[in-house]
Amino acid sequence: MASKLTSLFMRAAVRSVGRVSRPQHRAFSVAAQRRSDTLMVHRNTSDNNPSIPFKFTPANEAIIVEILKRYPPQYKKAAVMPILDLGQRQHGFTSISVMNEVARLLEMPPMRVYEVASFYTMYNRTPVGKFHIQVCTTTPCQLGGCGSDVIVKAVKEQLGVHHGGETTADGLFTFLEVECLGACVNAPMVQINDDYYEDLTPESIKSLLVALKESVLDVSKADKVPAPGPLSGRDTCENSNGLTNLTSEPWGAETTRQDL
Ligand code: FES
Repeated sequence: MASKLTSLFMRAAVRSVGRVSRPQHRAFSVAAQRRSDTLMVHRNTSDNNPSIPFKFTPANEAIIVEILKRYPPQYKKAAVMPILDLGQRQHGFTSISVMNEVARLLEMPPMRVYEVASFYTMYNRTPVGKFHIQVCTTTPCQLGGCGSDVIVKAVKEQLGVHHGGETTADGLFTFLEVECLGACVNAPMVQINDDYYEDLTPESIKSLLVALKESVLDVSKADKVPAPGPLSGRDTCENSNGLTNLTSEPWGAETTRQDL
């Protein structure tokens, strides 16, 4: 047995002679950081930690009473989404204190509220600027009109931001790339706070951002901000070349129903 082991060690030693020794470690590497969205984890910060108190205003408490009437009392946790939205509108973003207060009101485990708030991108879990610029970059917006790539480029140039989630130094704008917002027929488009601006071109998005900024610096210029909707002159999503079918006078009931 001892002789067998000895020869085994000898063969191994002979094999290793002349072999280039390789470092016995692997380099630690990570994928490039993607900044197109906020992290799905909470880290305490000075403006977002559980020790910051949050209470709904009396006006919002009255709204919550109305919201809760929509649900059977034993299922009041079903109201988590509208009440989180209300908290976000009051506080400016969905902080951990907002989520904890919603959990307390609805008698839910806080983790259940965190799960909802971190799943839906409509909940901003970090502070955002006065204007939240969400540019849709899903396929129809990439292909429609001038394409969302040039819209993203124009927004970045105008605001001086470089990545998604970045807020301008004056705190006015936060830029984010998002997935389809359901207005593909008027692509490319952007959501700014609660409003959709559609049929964008690099020029129209830049002048929109300028108008928004000026409306803050000088309230008398607030009426210079274009109305939401298509910025191409269309009313909604009608054919921009005018009617191409159904152009004759519509039939009346006397044509289709002789008996009427
Ligand atoms: S792809 Fe942009 S709104 Fe649908």
